[in-house]
Amino acid sequence: MIRIGMLGFGTVGRSVYDLLQAHTERFPDMQIVSVAVRQITEQRMTLYPTVQFTTNPDTIVTASDIDVVIEVMGGQTETYRYLRRALHSGKHVITANKDLIATYGETLQKIASAHQLALLYGASVAGGIPILDALTNLLPGDETMQVGGIINGTSNFILTQMSDAAMNYDDALALAQRMGIAEANPVNDVAGFDARYKLAILAKTAFGANVVTTQIPTQGIQEINATVLDEAKRLGYVIKPLAVARRTGQELAMTVGPHLVPAAHLLGKIDNVQNAVQVKTRNIQDLVFTGPGAGAKPTASAVLSDLAIVHDIVCGRQLVHEKQALQQPVITGTAAGRYIRVTAPATYEIDAIAQANQIGIKTMWVRSHRATILTDTVSPATLARFEAALQQQIGAKIEIVLPVYQE
Ligand code: HSE
Repeated sequence: MIRIGMLGFGTVGRSVYDLLQAHTERFPDMQIVSVAVRQITEQRMTLYPTVQFTTNPDTIVTASDIDVVIEVMGGQTETYRYLRRALHSGKHVITANKDLIATYGETLQKIASAHQLALLYGASVAGGIPILDALTNLLPGDETMQVGGIINGTSNFILTQMSDAAMNYDDALALAQRMGIAEANPVNDVAGFDARYKLAILAKTAFGANVVTTQIPTQGIQEINATVLDEAKRLGYVIKPLAVARRTGQELAMTVGPHLVPAAHLLGKIDNVQNAVQVKTRNIQDLVFTGPGAGAKPTASAVLSDLAIVHDIVCGRQLVHEKQALQQPVITGTAAGRYIRVTAPATYEIDAIAQANQIGIKTMWVRSHRATILTDTVSPATLARFEAALQQQIGAKIEIVLPVYQE
């Protein structure tokens, strides 16, 4: 019997329990024996009579008769200490905690590897989409060049409502909150921090790259308004919240934030809370995985996939080795076309300034003191020079700059 201890018993934890009960044929020899909760209630003890409840996670992570710890309680520093203790006590660890893995994943992985244990976190990125397992196990004869897509459902929901239902940002956010999609404090999702954690985990899995999340260029969706959405549409694009990492040699170009995506592209059609991850490889070239990025059942299902891996490991399967490590990559911004809106007293000079800074202009609309510019591909450095020249030479105020997704 493989004995499981669980930290946390919220909606995801209870779903894990229920799914495990419902699939005893696949997991006949696995059982959740103890669960750490904040409060032990009569109701819980009645509903789950075979579970030993405790309010002290330490008793689970150090118990001699627990083989696997599933962490679904959230939190960072304190939770990290529990998981470290669990690994040091010889337990396989499964977690759905992206913040924790993006921050402490490397350290925890070293401890896990030293003890020949599994540290699995398939539920931490894109909920029900088995993208980490695909990157780890399904592409052994291939080389991943690029990974990323729509990995924050809340931002995608808000932008979809703004675009399709003509809502303003505040109303779309309020709707997302009423529907239980966005949290009361939505900053993690709308400012791109959630996607940044997930992108760091994708980059680790695809490229073996240890990325410090704060180095990833990150833009929130708060500046998007009806004008931007309308102009993007007239240019043939939709605005989507993307997180993408592209490898070139030892460099990783990374970006998190709203992008212009061609309306006809598959990612342009992924709406509301749906997630989608595109993987570009040397041999297969192009794969897109799409599905629900959050929710108790999809997340619990991803936890069960990790449990199946632990089951196989306990039964003798070799632990998967990490991808060829791009240990300390150079993180850069991405070279991409840019949508730029500026206000300037002398918009007629923009063309000449662009030429002087080697910026190719695809389209430019000028209305009195406002200009909308769509550029050819530019590097972050060239873009910064162009922005500085616009500010210095014609006193331009840059309203918004968004990258165009490189298909
Ligand atoms: N808050 C996340 C999202 C779900 O909106 O995608 C959990 O990762």
